[in-house]
Amino acid sequence: MKNLKLFLLLTFIGIAGITNGQNIDLPAPDKSGGIPLMQALNERSSSREFSSRELSKQQLSNLCWAAWGYNRKDIKKRTAPSSMNKQEMELYVVLQEGAYLYNAEDHKLELIKEGDLRAFCGKQDFVAQAPVNFIYVANMKKADVDDPKNITPEHIATSHANTGFIAQNTYLACASEGLVCVVRAWIDKEALEQKMGLSPLHKVILGHTIGYSK
Ligand SMILES: Cc1cc2nc3c(=O)[nH]c(=O)nc-3n(C[C@H](O)[C@H](O)[C@H](O)COP(=O)(O)O)c2cc1C
Repeated sequence: MKNLKLFLLLTFIGIAGITNGQNIDLPAPDKSGGIPLMQALNERSSSREFSSRELSKQQLSNLCWAAWGYNRKDIKKRTAPSSMNKQEMELYVVLQEGAYLYNAEDHKLELIKEGDLRAFCGKQDFVAQAPVNFIYVANMKKADVDDPKNITPEHIATSHANTGFIAQNTYLACASEGLVCVVRAWIDKEALEQKMGLSPLHKVILGHTIGYSK
């Protein structure tokens, strides 16, 4: 009984320590750890079999930073390149408890929608079972588009190219963390944009399912 109380107290302190209101404060990313780059490249692969085991906050932190964090915060530049440095891509993190926007400046996850949206993150069954889905979204406002009618195929193509770099960062970070993942286009993008409450200037580009191997 005493041990149970201690366990519950420590669990509460742990949760209270990582959440700020409904946002999730991430620990600092481990920028000096991980496996060697050549080993990560050798181990990069797609997997579609996920266990429901949760990721640690440290893993989530490392993945977000590797994907689209600031590596030169003083000049607001990031781990992935971006056409004409528009940086229109936004990283959303969909967990069982809700959908979050990765705030690279403060390195935290900001809750944008409470509840489990994983089933809307893709049309394949494993998407709703894995603990984490990254959704790469182009915020066309940041690409200087002010009206959804003015979004051209070139805008979308550029955002796909930008997403490719981010997704590869995620693949390599997953290999480094001992996690499995798969980048995905097979998504009902309009339905997901609507469920996430995104504006018409926000376009879902790709999803990326992440977790432990089954
Ligand atoms: C742009 C893009 C879209 C993809 N979409 C899907 C998808 O919707 N569902 C899926 O299971 N895999 C998807 N994949 C993963 C590919 O099927 C996978 O990369 C390919 O089979 C090669 O396997 P590998 O990644 O293990 O080398 C996608 C990959 C890319 C690059």
